[in-house]
Amino acid sequence: MDRLAGPARLMIVSDLDHTMVDHHDPENLSLLRFNALWESNYRHDSLLVFSTGRSPTLYKELRKEKPLLTPDITIMSVGTEITYGELMAPDSGWERFLDRKWNRDIVVAESSKFPELKFQSASEQRPHKVSFYVQKDKAEAVMKSLNEILTIQGLDVKIIYSGGIDLDILPQGAGKGQALAYLLKKLKADQKLPLNTLACGDSGNDAELFSIPDVHGVMVSNAQEELLKWHAENARNNPKIFLANERCASGIIEAIGHFGLGPNISPRDVEDLSTCKTNNFNPGHELVLFYLLYERWRREEVEQSAATIETMKKITSHNGVLIHPFGVEHPLHECIDAFAMSYGDKKGKQFRVWLDRVSSTQVHPDAWLVKFDKWEMSDEGRRCCLTTVVLNTKKDTAEGLMLVHVHQTWMDGFAAQQNWFF
Ligand code: GLC
Ligand code: MG
Repeated sequence: MDRLAGPARLMIVSDLDHTMVDHHDPENLSLLRFNALWESNYRHDSLLVFSTGRSPTLYKELRKEKPLLTPDITIMSVGTEITYGELMAPDSGWERFLDRKWNRDIVVAESSKFPELKFQSASEQRPHKVSFYVQKDKAEAVMKSLNEILTIQGLDVKIIYSGGIDLDILPQGAGKGQALAYLLKKLKADQKLPLNTLACGDSGNDAELFSIPDVHGVMVSNAQEELLKWHAENARNNPKIFLANERCASGIIEAIGHFGLGPNISPRDVEDLSTCKTNNFNPGHELVLFYLLYERWRREEVEQSAATIETMKKITSHNGVLIHPFGVEHPLHECIDAFAMSYGDKKGKQFRVWLDRVSSTQVHPDAWLVKFDKWEMSDEGRRCCLTTVVLNTKKDTAEGLMLVHVHQTWMDGFAAQQNWFF
């Protein structure tokens, strides 16, 4: 949250399963479209929040399976666990707040008496969340009587049904909506209230996200029955809630355009990348385009033209070097020559490249230090290189920039060395 000095231009608060992540899209194309848009146009001044029903364990599993970006804030277990930053530091104030009128043992004891309820796996049972599976036709009646029983026991709980199968019992003050409201309050107290917030979801536990004042909402086109029902009953005429025509992450991009929240064209949708420009020089934007061209060249999705290689040489300093993750140094122009030879080597194969955590510092009026994770996914699996680039802006040239130094380190290499200081 402290990454930005001031208020975020846009804060996206998105559910993961069937919203950010399309489990019916094996190539993850809509997610990769979103990633390219976010890193090129938003990462530097906006906040990305994931709000998932998953526990930390299942969330980490999803991150290994899918090309998810690193969010600034992660809200897990249906709004009962809030963590900040890459290291996922927990918000202990939120945990203490949720302890009010909550007694997990009573919830477990009472709900176990219902034969219709089947416990979810142990990883999904959390300090402020007890979760079951229940058949659709039984759900409503069970929720009603369980709520009555727990109220008699002096508890104030919230029971949520999602995905036509999952039933979560949480403290009344919890839930995705309450967690978002808490976050907004915190940001406001720090004078960092985002200029715009967009909540994105597909199922029952996301409904609350759409009830928070001053928040735009998008229900992706593949939204579940229970969410559409909630919308029809509670928010039919609310212009702040948009039902997208597109599925999952593509629906989120569509909503950015619908509400006019900022750039809504993913570089992945631009055929001629040389036409993809921003008003102000943004190193993240340039590097996303650079690696997209790299992907397309190797997939044989651009023409094999000498002009492309010439342009690449023009934007790399002739005496610049790339320090390869294997620990060898190559002149940048030699790397471009080798790259030229790789045309089409990934044709027809699984091969995608995406950037995450792009951050840039202007170290001189004409020079930037840019750091990011460069991911490559291929048939062999996926790998990440922590990459640092030094680039100069060249306002007087058509290309507008020159890379002078690239340094890469494998992120999946050796175990951390002890006593390694610099
Ligand atoms: C996720 C969680 C599960 C929860 C469901 C709905 O699938 O893993 O525990 O019930 O979201 O909130
Ligand atoms: Mg979902």
